[in-house]
Formats: sequence, structure tokens, C-alpha cells
Amino acid sequence: MILSQINGITIRILKESDYGIVKPFMRDYFHYDEPMGIGLQEQIHLQNEAEVDKEYLSVIRQGLSIVAFDENSKNLLVGIAVAEKMDPNIMEKQHKEAAEMESNALGRSRKMVAKVERDANIFERCGVSTYLSLIAISVHSSMRGKGLLGQLSMCLLNLGRSRGFPLFIGCSSSYYSARSAMKQGLECIHSQAYADYKDDQGRTIFNPPAPHTHMRVVAAKL
Ligand SMILES: CC(C)(COP(=O)(O)OP(=O)(O)OC[C@H]1O[C@@H](n2cnc3c(N)ncnc32)[C@H](O)[C@@H]1OP(=O)(O)O)[C@@H](O)C(=O)NCCC(=O)NCCS
Repeated sequence: MILSQINGITIRILKESDYGIVKPFMRDYFHYDEPMGIGLQEQIHLQNEAEVDKEYLSVIRQGLSIVAFDENSKNLLVGIAVAEKMDPNIMEKQHKEAAEMESNALGRSRKMVAKVERDANIFERCGVSTYLSLIAISVHSSMRGKGLLGQLSMCLLNLGRSRGFPLFIGCSSSYYSARSAMKQGLECIHSQAYADYKDDQGRTIFNPPAPHTHMRVVAAKL
């Protein structure tokens, strides 16, 4: 299903059969470009690989994720946004799984997202029992700074609205994605400074380069 066509960029629902190109796209333009992965020495894209593939495929089957292709570059995949349905039961299960994960890069990042989601107290604060939750968003490096993020976000919000979700939530690890969200009218309902997120020995776990100082939970009523 096509959601938008502007200047040769087509945005449509992500299909299960796209995973073969989406997976390497995430390796090349997401995992090591998003602030928690910048400079990472571990190969996060290979960690818990079979399980992660299964999780992504099941999320994709929900039909709430989108992809952008550029006709001007032989239909190159230029952007992705992976999103899923969230409710208190799903969140509890995910947080339990995150708590039980080993402390590899994937586990550390899932644990931080879980803490930030818990602290944000989303269901009570926003008075909803379900919402559309953004898991990952990224743009091809050759297309960055051209506003594609804004187009992807707009399509995702419209998709969420059309599927009856009352709320959209993104846990934004990047200064740029949070700023872009707020420019689009989303509200930051909670934030966690990376400098204050520490392990048992009081050492910071993530030290992304400036301007990525906080993980921010951004929200939009749909
Ligand atoms: C964050 C991201 C999705 C933004 O996508 P985008 O389509 O470039 O977004 P925008 O065009 O709105 O640009 C956002 C800002 O990125 C910065 N930017 C511009 N060109 C850039 C480039 N070539 N490389 C990196 N950042 C650039 C600019 O500061 C820009 O702000 P501006 O509009 O004031 O110039 C993209 O940089 C990305 O994929 N990053 C890696 C994955 C990631 O961090 N995802 C978000 C995690 S929650």
C-alpha cells in the first residue's frame, strides 16, 4: 500500500518480503549510526541474530512499518521506520526479556529503552491502553538532511491514525530525530540523560558524541 509519493520518493508499507533488504540497510544505516551504536566495537547486528530476525518479521507482519524508495536512484531503499503495537502486557513481556538479556550491546540498549519507557509511565500519563510504538527509524546516509525523516514520520502518524491508535510514541536516542519530532508538533514527555544512566559501579554506559545528550520519549495524540 502506497502512503506517499513526492519528488520520486515513494513511501509504502514494509512487507515481509522486504526484510532481505531491510536487514542489511539496518546494519549499514541504523545500528552503528544511531547514538547508542556510534563507535561500537561489538557487532550488534549479529547479536541474538535468529531471535532478532524472528522479532522483526513478526513486527513487520503487523503492517505498521514503512519503507521509502527513491525512483531517482534506481529505486534505492532510502528510509525505514519499524513500528509495532504496544499495550501494557506486551510492554511487561518486553521489559522482562530485556532484564534477562546478557549485557551485550543489544542487551544494554534494550535495558536502557525499557527503563526509559518505564520511567515515562506512558499508559497512565497519557491515559491510553494501547499505542503505536516506534522501534527504529533511519535514512540512507546519502539522503540525510533533506527532510526524509519528516516525511516518514508524517506517514507513520497517518498510518497509526488510520489503524485506530490513540497515540504514537517514539523513544528517540538521537538529538536530530527528537528535534525533528518536536518541530512536527510532537511533545517530549520524558527524557533521560546518557550521562546519568550508569551501571552498578557508577560508570556511564553510553557516551554518544554531542549533540546526543539525552534519550527522549516523544508523543503525539492521534
Ligand atoms: C536521524 C535521521 C533519521 C534523520 O534523518 P534525515 O532525513 O536526515 O532528517 P532531516 O533531513 O530532518 O535532518 C535532521 C538533521 O540531521 C542533520 N544532518 C543533515 N545532513 C546530515 C548528514 N549528511 N548526515 C548526518 N546528519 C545530517 C542536520 O543537522 C539536520 O538538521 P537540519 O534540518 O537543521 O539541517 C538520520 O540522520 C539517521 O538515519 N540517523 C541514523 C539512525 C538514527 O539515529 N535514527 C534515530 C534513532 S531514534
